[in-house]
Amino acid sequence: MSERKILLIIGGGVAAYKALELIRELSRRGVRSRVILTKAGAEFITPLSAASLSGDKCYTELFDLTSEAEMGHIELSRSADLVVVAPATADLMAKTANGFANDLASTTLLATDKPVMFAPAMNVRMWNHPATQRNLKTLADDGALIVGPEKGDMACGEFGYGRMAEPAAIADAVEAYFMRETEGPLKGKHVLITAGPTHEAMDPVRYIANRSSGKQGYALAEALRNLGADVTLVTGPTNLPDPAFIKTVRVETAREMLAASETALPADCAIFCAAVSDYRPSTETNQKIKKERGGLTSIEVTENPDILKAISQMSEGRPRLVIGFAAETQDVVCYAEAKRKRKGCDWIVANDVSPGDNVVSGGVMGGDRNAVILITENGEEAWPDMPKTEVARRLAERIAKTLGGPHLVKAAE
Ligand code: C5P
Repeated sequence: MSERKILLIIGGGVAAYKALELIRELSRRGVRSRVILTKAGAEFITPLSAASLSGDKCYTELFDLTSEAEMGHIELSRSADLVVVAPATADLMAKTANGFANDLASTTLLATDKPVMFAPAMNVRMWNHPATQRNLKTLADDGALIVGPEKGDMACGEFGYGRMAEPAAIADAVEAYFMRETEGPLKGKHVLITAGPTHEAMDPVRYIANRSSGKQGYALAEALRNLGADVTLVTGPTNLPDPAFIKTVRVETAREMLAASETALPADCAIFCAAVSDYRPSTETNQKIKKERGGLTSIEVTENPDILKAISQMSEGRPRLVIGFAAETQDVVCYAEAKRKRKGCDWIVANDVSPGDNVVSGGVMGGDRNAVILITENGEEAWPDMPKTEVARRLAERIAKTLGGPHLVKAAE
């Protein structure tokens, strides 16, 4: 593969120091950065540190005649495969969304013919301001890729959305971009994945849920994306950020998850990783149920729709490969095989979630490792204990092998 190159525009925000870490992280992954540092960015970090880490000149001013003679801003804007703006300040986003070009960074952003990825970083109020949200929408409509921001404590002492995504997460998005450019075995295939728990409300503060971190489903979504698939991830509430280049639909309840899954069809493959609550409270009150008034002595429940079963048994437009997960605490294979037949799916990925199982690091639920048994019509295959990301990679490869063949359907918009 030829060398992958990005043009990194570092804006003026306290997160600028993280951009230096990003240069190093990308270089570790074989991606070279050429840097433009805005005037405001140079208040936070020096051109010399950016130049030292990137191993190249750091460009700062539009009317630096020497730079213009060596490499004009038009050429600079086209010298990389991808332009990354990190930190992307409210000002840089506003300028780009509106086509301003009054310094090197904005001129380059207007002149580039390459995709642009923004990693926004700003105070939570600036992020939430309608003007910034309008600019964000304009940038996304113009085809920009957006990574983050994340929620958390800010340098200004406030809390909320506005922290720049971590350098590793931005580097992941850059890598995912380059992977999508290469021909993966799942190119042109659409995969639907459900992940996380569902929350079934009882009153405004209480809900029924299952234990699920969403880690296995998200890892699978990323592994399939890395093989070139168009992935739609329908997820219940989790603490995980939306993965890059994956259409992520956030839902709360089983009924919403079913509706979002049906909307996402057609798909070549559908994988049901979510820990869906089998039941929901039969009534949901608008007011908190008070202990003093007799409160909650019992909860009447209604059965939720079974999403895996509904999609496995579709008479028309059923995805070619439907995969369910089965968390069991005893007779894993026996129960899982019965479940495969009962639900009508093609494969079941079964795991033992009993306490004290063979998985280290605190068990399967919420942990980073998993030991699964893959059950297909051809029998069962026990995989040893491994990281969830590795389970995802192997499963994605198996799916690619099975789905190999002509392009069937496109992701629904
Ligand atoms: O029946 P059980 O809940 O054990 O089945 C687990 C499998 O079924 C998982 O793949 C899960 O995502 C899926 N499921 C579903 N909708 C439900 C219950 C489970 O899609 N209501």
